Amino acid sequence: MEAALLDKLIRSPKAELHMHIEGSLEPELIFQLAQKHGVTLPYPTIDALRAAYAFTDLQSFLDVYYAGAGVLLDADDFKAMTAAYLARAHADNVIHTELFFDPQTHLERGVSMATMLEGMEAAMVDAERDHGISSRLILCFLRHLSEESALETLAQALPLLDTYRHRLVGVGLDSSERGNPPSKFERVFAAAREAGLRAVAHAGEEGPADYIWQALQLLQVERIDHGVRAVEDAALVQHLADTRVALTVCPLSNLKLCVFDDLEKHTLKTLLDAGVAVTVNSDDPAYFGGYVNANYIAIAEALQLNEAELHRIVANAFDAAFIDDDARRTMRAAVDRHWLQ
Ligand code: ADE
Ligand code: ZN
Repeated sequence: MEAALLDKLIRSPKAELHMHIEGSLEPELIFQLAQKHGVTLPYPTIDALRAAYAFTDLQSFLDVYYAGAGVLLDADDFKAMTAAYLARAHADNVIHTELFFDPQTHLERGVSMATMLEGMEAAMVDAERDHGISSRLILCFLRHLSEESALETLAQALPLLDTYRHRLVGVGLDSSERGNPPSKFERVFAAAREAGLRAVAHAGEEGPADYIWQALQLLQVERIDHGVRAVEDAALVQHLADTRVALTVCPLSNLKLCVFDDLEKHTLKTLLDAGVAVTVNSDDPAYFGGYVNANYIAIAEALQLNEAELHRIVANAFDAAFIDDDARRTMRAAVDRHWLQ
C-alpha cells in the first residue's frame, strides 16, 4: 500500500464493533492472573501457550480461548483485562468500541455477573477519562450451551440493567456455530429485546448462509458478526445491501481459523461492491495476531482497497454503532474530516 494511504488509515478515527474482551487476554496477563489465583493452566509456559495458537478451525481456537479465560476470577481481573484492551485500542485510534463478553464461561466458575460488570465498568470509565474512548458492552450467549442456560444468564443480567443500562446495550450469540443454529435462541432474544436490549449474532462464519437469514428473521438482529458466507446466497446479499444491516468482518480471525486459506480470497470486497455495509474488526486480537489496525492493513493490502473504500468501511462502523444520534454525528464528522482533508 502507498505510504500516505497507509498513514491515513492508521491515523483514522475508528469504531470497533466485534471484539471479545476475553480474546484480548495476552499470554503475559493470563500467566500473571494464573499466578495471582493459583490457577493451573493446561500450558506450563507462555511459549507453550503461544505454541497452541496454531488453529485449524473455530473449535480448535475456542478450546484454548476458554482455558485462557479461566484465570478471570475477581473484579480487578476484569478491570485489568479491559483496561489493557482499551489502551491498546486507543493506540490504534479507536474512539468507540463495543465489547462482547461471555458470562456463561465465568458464571460456571462461580464469578457473578455483578463482578464482571463492576470490573469492566471501572476500566471503561477510566478509559473515557484518560483516552476519550467511548465504549459499550454486549452480553453474548454461548450457542453450544442450552436455551435454558441462556435464559438463566439473561435472568442474571436483567436486575443489573438499572445500574448498567448506559453500558450494557445488547446481546449477542457466539461460540461453536455449526450445529447450533440461531433458531435455538429465538425465545431468549425475544426476551432480551423486550427488555430494551439491542441484538446481534455471529452467523455465516463457519455456518451456512441460512444461519444469517435465521439471525435476521428469528432473532431480529441489527448486525451480523462475520457473515462472510453471505456471498453463497445472492438474495441474501441483496437483502443485506437493501437493509444496510452491517457485517462485522474480522479478516485475521478468518485467516487464522482457516475460513479462508488466503486473504486474497476473502469475500469482503465482493460484499462491499454489492453495497453491503461491511466493517473491519479484530475478534480476538491476542490470539489472531493483530489489533484493529493490523486487520485493516492486512485486508487493504490483500484486496487492494482504495482510499474511498477504506473511508466507506471506517464510516460504516460508526453508522452501525449502538450510540445516540448526537454522538454518531460528531464521530462521523471527525471521520469525514480525516478522510476528506
Ligand atoms: N468467541 C470468540 N471468538 C469467536 C468467534 N470468532 N466465533 C465464535 N465465537 C467466538
Ligand atoms: Zn467473534
